[in-house]
Amino acid sequence: PLLGFFFSFLSIVTSPKNVMGIVGQDTILPCHISSTKPLENIEVRWKKTTDGRIEDIHIYRPFGGKPTQKYPGRTSLPTDGFATGNVSLTLKNVQPADEGTYHCLVMSRDWSADAATVLSIAGGNPGNWQHGPAP
Ligand SMILES: *[C@@H]1O[C@H](CO)[C@@H](O)[C@H](O)[C@H]1NC(C)=O
Repeated sequence: PLLGFFFSFLSIVTSPKNVMGIVGQDTILPCHISSTKPLENIEVRWKKTTDGRIEDIHIYRPFGGKPTQKYPGRTSLPTDGFATGNVSLTLKNVQPADEGTYHCLVMSRDWSADAATVLSIAGGNPGNWQHGPAP
């Protein structure tokens, strides 16, 4: 049908505008691909911008062997081959310096799309909680 023709070109990437991380904990930066095309051979690039500086944080290439990681061992993507369109980045042991804007860029042979999420970091000093009023 005609509608199907139009929709066959739809590929979008969505992520939340803001995510809050806590120092010392693991944070997930959600990013999801909605595509009417099969998610085959896609490249996923997580980039970070801080004060106009752009860094590649984690790059997954379909045939590129190991992913490129700015912080080896601290970042990971779901391992299911993105069949579900879930390309959320897990960032381990979050630090204040991780604060910034993260871009989830997805590239396929004939389309690309991206979305941005601002990561804010909250102090995680557990001592702060022990001195509050008793419940
Ligand atoms: C996407 O992947 C992340 C990290 O593995 C996981 O925590 C999250 O629950 C997944 N989201 C969905 C909707 O499956």
